[in-house]
Amino acid sequence: MNVAVFPGSFDPVTLGHMDLIGRAAAIFDHVYVCAMVNSGKRPMFTKEQRHEMLSAAVAGLPNVTAELWTGLLADYARKRGARYLIKGVRNGTDFDTELGMAQINRALEPTLDTVLLPARTEFLHVSSTMVREMVTYKRPLEPYVPAAAIETMKGWKDNGKT
Ligand code: PNS
Repeated sequence: MNVAVFPGSFDPVTLGHMDLIGRAAAIFDHVYVCAMVNSGKRPMFTKEQRHEMLSAAVAGLPNVTAELWTGLLADYARKRGARYLIKGVRNGTDFDTELGMAQINRALEPTLDTVLLPARTEFLHVSSTMVREMVTYKRPLEPYVPAAAIETMKGWKDNGKT
């Protein structure tokens, strides 16, 4: 069975992520989407909130499971028996970042390969950073965030802002 991990901060999950997750689910037998900690970022949403939104967003995908992991990505992939990491790339900056992370992850776990999927044109401008601005300025999230994740946010007292 070909198992892959799609890791990220998902702060929050976007329609761009969902497109990539759906494409990965069509390639691999099972995909674990994992909300993780990026030590270089200060998230708007807690890791539990990020995981909750992600779980709601992928609930309809039968071969996709959402999880939360606070350790090393390579350790998580080993635990799940995954030999592939999936990352999306929107531009050259993303590519440079992902190339570096792919080398580190392969050094940590030599059987682990990284598969880079190019973002579709319609999602090139969609980023979690931009969505956080929309949350801050109370603008509609529907064009950028899966409906199930928006519903999840609405269930929180403070609308998800931490
Ligand atoms: O969505 P992001 O912020 O670009 O995702 C980055 C993430 C969370 C995948 C990366 O920071 C990560 O893998 N964190 C877990 C810790 C780890 O394994 N670090 C070594 C690989 S760079």
